[in-house]
Amino acid sequence: MRKKITVIGGGHVGEHVAMGCAMKELGDVMLLDIVEGMPQGKSLDMFEASPVQGYDSMVKGTNDYADTAGSDVVVITAGLARKPGMSRDDLQNKNAGIVKACTEGVMKHSPNAILVLVSNPLDVMCYVAKAVSGLPREKVVGMAGILDTARFRSFIAMELGVSVESISALVLGGHGDAMVPLPRLATVGGIPLPELIPQDRIDALVERTAKGGGEIVALLKTGSAYYAPAAAAVEMVESILHDKKKILPCATYMEGEYGVNGTFVGVPVMLGAAGVEKVYEVKLNDKETAMLQASAAAVKEQQEKLDV
Ligand code: NAI
Ligand code: 2OP
Repeated sequence: MRKKITVIGGGHVGEHVAMGCAMKELGDVMLLDIVEGMPQGKSLDMFEASPVQGYDSMVKGTNDYADTAGSDVVVITAGLARKPGMSRDDLQNKNAGIVKACTEGVMKHSPNAILVLVSNPLDVMCYVAKAVSGLPREKVVGMAGILDTARFRSFIAMELGVSVESISALVLGGHGDAMVPLPRLATVGGIPLPELIPQDRIDALVERTAKGGGEIVALLKTGSAYYAPAAAAVEMVESILHDKKKILPCATYMEGEYGVNGTFVGVPVMLGAAGVEKVYEVKLNDKETAMLQASAAAVKEQQEKLDV
């Protein structure tokens, strides 16, 4: 039997997650939004692309949570996106109410689903979904680290004029300006990054990565990034539904790892059929540990301001 994926929020990110999941035949896709007609129209359009693209995934749209019943994975992208001059944290209270409502709707009909959060501010929205759903940490996971790492990998590839596929990198921490790119662990075809790029250029790439979301917002002027975010979310859905057990940086509820407790933060995890099957503790130096703890503290500070 085919798996069922629900995508909540049929905006820029949601529509590309839905299309990406369909094109990879990860399962049948249900796209839900509060706007009447829009998810139905977009999903019909996606299904009409399937004879040309050659995928056998049913794609449907709805405004009713009853249609999401029995989902295996639910990707929550509903919420407002950042506009120029707006920080991710400005979005917090509005999106917390939206994510709470979405989580309640999902849990009513799919109590066994794994939730993949995308809505911002990401780490705090994961906390809202976990608190509202009552799910264990294995089943609530946030998309940000794959995106932040993909940006870092892209910038390194551009700097060196090499294939992005040769770049391996890791960005930890909360999905905010205090995220923690780890150039020490980046490699290019197996060669340590610091052997190929001088420190001042590495610092510039790290800075660009941390501000990568804002760079796109400033260019688009009407919203935030969606191609790379959607691709990252689809990679997570694939790793879960195909039980690939990929090791990916994802927002995970911390239970003492890295000295962090009671908050979501981006760390390497194994994603498989059970969701977050393992959390990896990378050996960090003192500076990196301090940066990760500062990033987690920034998330916790925001979390404590929650009003839902
Ligand atoms: P968008 O504005 O294009 O789409 C959001 C959709 O959510 C809209 O279609 C809207 O009607 C829908 N929506 C609002 N309230 C809803 C509710 N109660 N139930 C169902 N649907 C509802 O925004 P976009 O670009 O798709 O971004 C979505 C969210 O993802 C934003 O919060 C954005 O900041 C976040 N984001 C997070 C990233 C990450 O790295 N974690 C990357 C990119 C975006
Ligand atoms: C990003 O990093 C908006 O958080 C989103 O592009």
